[in-house]
Amino acid sequence: MTASTEEQRIHGGVRSEEVHIDALLTDAGIVHIRSVRPTDASALRDMYASVSDDTIYMRFFTMSRASVEEDIAALCRPPDDRHFVLVAELGGRIIGLATYETLDWDRTRAEVAFLVEDTQRGRGVGTLLFEHLAALALQNGVKTFIAEVLPENNPMLRMLRDIGLPRKARSLEGVVHFEIPLTMDETYRAAVDRREAAANARSLARVLSPKVVAVVGAGANPQGLGHQILVNIVQGGYRGEVFAINRSGHRVAGVPAYASLADLPASPDVVIVAVPAAEVLAVARQAAQRHPAGLVVISAGFAEAGAEGAERQRELLAICRAAGMRLIGPNCMGIANIDPEISLNATFCATMPPPGGISLMSQSGAVGIAALNHAARSGVGLATFISAGNKADVSGNDVLCAWESDPRTRVCALYLESFGNPRKFARIARRVGKAKPIVAVKAGRTLAGIRGAASHTAAAATPDVVVDSLFAQAGVTRVDSLEDLFNVATFFDVAPLPAGRRVAIVGNSGGPGVLAADACEAAGLEVIQLGERTRTLLRSLLPEGAAVDNPVDVVASTETRVFEAALRIVAHDPEVDAVVVVFTEIRPGSIPETAKAIAKVSREYSGKPFVACLLGHPGIPDELTDGSGRLLVPVYAFPEPAVRALAAAERYARWRRRRPGTFPHFEDLDRESAAALVAATLAEHPEGTWLDTPAAVQLLTAYGITLAPTVAAKSSAEAVAAAERIGYPVVLKPAAGSFVHKTELHAVKLNLTSAEDVAAAFADIASRLDLGDTGVVVQPMLRGGVEAALGVVTDRTFGPVVMVGLGGVASDLLADRAFRLPPLTVEEADEQIRSLRTAPLLFGYRNAPPTKVEALRDMLLRLAELASALPEIAELDLNPVLVSPDGAVALDAKVRLAPAPHDDPLVRRLR
Ligand SMILES: Nc1ncnc2c1ncn2[C@@H]1O[C@H](COP(=O)(O)OP(=O)(O)OP(=O)(O)O)[C@@H](O)[C@H]1O
Ligand SMILES: [Mg+2]
Repeated sequence: MTASTEEQRIHGGVRSEEVHIDALLTDAGIVHIRSVRPTDASALRDMYASVSDDTIYMRFFTMSRASVEEDIAALCRPPDDRHFVLVAELGGRIIGLATYETLDWDRTRAEVAFLVEDTQRGRGVGTLLFEHLAALALQNGVKTFIAEVLPENNPMLRMLRDIGLPRKARSLEGVVHFEIPLTMDETYRAAVDRREAAANARSLARVLSPKVVAVVGAGANPQGLGHQILVNIVQGGYRGEVFAINRSGHRVAGVPAYASLADLPASPDVVIVAVPAAEVLAVARQAAQRHPAGLVVISAGFAEAGAEGAERQRELLAICRAAGMRLIGPNCMGIANIDPEISLNATFCATMPPPGGISLMSQSGAVGIAALNHAARSGVGLATFISAGNKADVSGNDVLCAWESDPRTRVCALYLESFGNPRKFARIARRVGKAKPIVAVKAGRTLAGIRGAASHTAAAATPDVVVDSLFAQAGVTRVDSLEDLFNVATFFDVAPLPAGRRVAIVGNSGGPGVLAADACEAAGLEVIQLGERTRTLLRSLLPEGAAVDNPVDVVASTETRVFEAALRIVAHDPEVDAVVVVFTEIRPGSIPETAKAIAKVSREYSGKPFVACLLGHPGIPDELTDGSGRLLVPVYAFPEPAVRALAAAERYARWRRRRPGTFPHFEDLDRESAAALVAATLAEHPEGTWLDTPAAVQLLTAYGITLAPTVAAKSSAEAVAAAERIGYPVVLKPAAGSFVHKTELHAVKLNLTSAEDVAAAFADIASRLDLGDTGVVVQPMLRGGVEAALGVVTDRTFGPVVMVGLGGVASDLLADRAFRLPPLTVEEADEQIRSLRTAPLLFGYRNAPPTKVEALRDMLLRLAELASALPEIAELDLNPVLVSPDGAVALDAKVRLAPAPHDDPLVRRLR
């Protein structure tokens, strides 16, 4: 083995030279974390030279610097599978390090040590190093960290206390010994998430609320992009200071201009870059000297434009990272903050929407601008807007964290074309969604849409059902159109959440009321029969010919005063959770007074949502807005979008009310032997393979997943012997994993009742198929029960997805399947099974005895656990699984293994 391959050796999982991560510090600085290199000795020497005697004492338990050289040599020694060293770099200097070293007698335990330069304390460097070291250690088989800390080492004690892991401490001879099991459970994950969200929010807050903005590339030409943005900033009444940078240094649009960022009299918080792509890197380097919080790069010509552009984007990102700047774009259409205190419109949209609670992020710039225009026209109130462009740095995940702590943002609206890190998205969305509803358009539902998205933003096509499940589990409202994005978001911004699904419809004509009622039923809302008291009151109020039950029709000739009274009676009914008003302007000029009545009654019942459909009426009557043009009640031109918005709010409210589920705890899993089987198989087949049936059975059994007894047999005689032992009738099928559709090969021999049958079946299979040395398997012939199917598919970006289906032979035909992303709670697994259309089959359909559904659920949960633990499981199929009153048993198992990327998708890092 040569020296270089020796260095590249994969030890225990993670190649030490592979670690290269940028991450945010608590104060929004950006630190680079990487594995140590042999060439780091002099940088480490510099670091040691700059730290205080105290710090030396904490590291070596002595004031003497005598051990420094020895330590550096040890830190820089060639990688092996016993130790790992991470360093933290800031501005090209090493400012911290973290190491682990496994114990001689127990490789699952490792001693750890940390050191952070005195001047860099309190920024969270140590915590970040700990998190990354722990993630790597875990992948390399370490299960427990051991730390020896001096009792006066407060920073270290504090870090260990706050990290989110359990710890045992005992004091011995003036040293505290810590044992920290690396149980990355939900408590730990949540602690990491909180740190990530806080850092993200802090780093983006200054970008979104800048006091000083510079627009580079804003020249005299009114067609220039920079010029247009500058004009919009000025006309939008930006409350901060704005400067233009252009070659001539001449004023533009009344704004002072300079020839270079270096000349600016004030340091910009945000630099907007609208120069040709070839000049962007130079501008970014100049900007870095002025330490802005962020760069908004409008210029195109980056990753969306081929290899050269992609390289340029990498360089741009590197410049931003080194300078601690967040990067929005490139290839984006700007940002806006409609907060009247900021009033920043750094976009191409000339008119800004009124201030409101919706924050919007759009991956497509053009869609974003169209959306802003639409919002401005229809009274949709916005808080902030971000056009994410190529998402080189700032992505939807970061933006959600920023909105989470932005008091003005009440609703998060996303237009997405791709996911960078969907598993992180799922966690962030789940958390943010508990407080603020998230509405998203995920473009690319259709194949044509996916092709379009992929060719213009290099987005990976994602199976749509997976996206649906991801959104549903995380409480995200998925909508299909931009129009519905605003329809739904506006409802969330303006109206309270419905307490239930009982709807009352009030209108002044019959047809539209019926349309609304149909829409409600289709969307899962209930158009209830109104209470006796409500009907009596309406009957005494309304003229002959009016309908006093739902949908209520006050008839066209009724005066507005009476309409208002009817609305009040209906709203007062405690059985009514939401009121849908469907008004048609039959009497000319009746809209304003009706609008006023709706606004008035909705204010009186402010805990109940009202939606107003002013049929065919263009625009929004002033009576339904406050002084600033913001809506008081969500208004729609047709009943269908109104009802869709209401139904989405009701679904979200239900999701939010859901009690946190319980994660299953399986005591009987043999994780080690399952992992060993996978590792051994992949060592033999590095590019992946199907498992033979006996191996598949072994893997599943380790996770407590029950299969029908399956006995391997290599010859006819062995098969007969196995059959005799199992007892007739039996089933015979080939054992090799390579036969994927055995029935189609006529290789599943069912219901064999004698030794002769078995011998004949074996002979038939062997004569047609090459059984190699794996032979066949013999199973008892099982009968009865409902045929279900369970499965796992591991998507490269989404991770494992678990499937449950029903229908046996017809399952493909019926496509009655439900998908979820692990981790799954018991309640989610239950709900997944019950969501199947044919689920009633399990619960005793038409006098059949009810099956033991808990057994199927248990199998599903174990499968989810298996899939999460072993990402090498590329595909897994249990089809059929017989579910009977006694339990659930799989008759067939197919497993395909493939090498999986090792990195933990949930560690804190910038993308
Ligand atoms: N032990 C058994 N007892 C009863 N029926 C069985 C048994 N094993 C298989 N079957 C029946 O035979 C069918 C096909 O067998 P199996 O699932 O093992 O093969 P397969 O390769 O998945 O075939 P296909 O691709 O057609 O589903 C099963 O769906 C089931 O109906
Ligand atoms: Mg099968």
